[in-house]
Amino acid sequence: MLRRVPRWIVAVLLIVVIGGLLTACGSAEDYPQTTLESAGPHNDSILGVYSLVWYGSIIVFFLVEGLLIFSVFKFRGEPKTAHGRPVPVHGNNRLEIIWTVIPAIILAIIAVPTLQVISELSEAPGDDAMVINVIGHQFFWEFQYPDLGVNTTNELHIPVGQRIDLRLDSADVIHSFWVPQLAGKTDAIPGRDNRMWFEADAPGTYLGQCAEFCGLAHYQMLMTVVAESQEDFDAWVAEELAPPPAEGDPEEGLAIVEAQCAACHAIEGTSAQGQVGPALTGFANQELIADVIENTPENLAAWLDDPQAIKPGTAMPDLPLSEADIINLVTYLETLNGESE
Ligand code: CUA
Repeated sequence: MLRRVPRWIVAVLLIVVIGGLLTACGSAEDYPQTTLESAGPHNDSILGVYSLVWYGSIIVFFLVEGLLIFSVFKFRGEPKTAHGRPVPVHGNNRLEIIWTVIPAIILAIIAVPTLQVISELSEAPGDDAMVINVIGHQFFWEFQYPDLGVNTTNELHIPVGQRIDLRLDSADVIHSFWVPQLAGKTDAIPGRDNRMWFEADAPGTYLGQCAEFCGLAHYQMLMTVVAESQEDFDAWVAEELAPPPAEGDPEEGLAIVEAQCAACHAIEGTSAQGQVGPALTGFANQELIADVIENTPENLAAWLDDPQAIKPGTAMPDLPLSEADIINLVTYLETLNGESE
């Protein structure tokens, strides 16, 4: 039988609640996928509604818990029945109306900005927005800049302050595009043209993540959004469009492997630890590529360029690799003789 709540239990509960609230605060540096440090107008709008609900619920929480604790102490000496229980109370119209009407008013207050934000975010981004096609693949993101002729993987470069008009599609299953600091989630669904807009206020690198379970390596389907000044962006585009070098750079090749192949393949001594495709640790010693063609640099380049053409039905995706990427990759993969460095 509960007679009296000891003071120390109340104190412990308070400490837990307040401590919990404080630890929930963290900066984007520690938590790069936080939605609480908004970096653009799309997320500002969502965060506005979120904050309203959050601070409102703190007020409601303390009101309700306060009344509860108050009642526990205030009424504990009330008369009891013969069994030692409190005398039951039946029906109180005034209370019933109050606790129906107040939540209804609160929900109505929340509904107004919510509907405003929904309509604001679903508006078309306008003609001066930069169109970028996003294609979800198992397990990487492909970004196409149709007006610039540039394609990238897992790394989306955007100019600061430029509204981005994303056209989302998928090559296989449903993925979900999510860069928490910049915008809400939008699904990439095969055969359906989803659109969303966002914009970055300040230069920086923002971490994103596929937010829809799409297979074994879903958790590795990361992306970064690099927001930079218009000059830096233009310089990046020029570099992307530059002709490929004649000789490959193994360091560059390794960087591509770690960015694009790591979700599926493992190579000892690197951060690539995927378990979906075959391990590549001793790749250079292998007789065949994908068990079908002889392991030569030319064949490897052709394989990387279009795996389906060489082995129809292979799980190896057709990564959007530039010519330079392929040369760098071949150079790097040819160094993999199974001896760790
Ligand atoms: Cu793609 Cu999860």
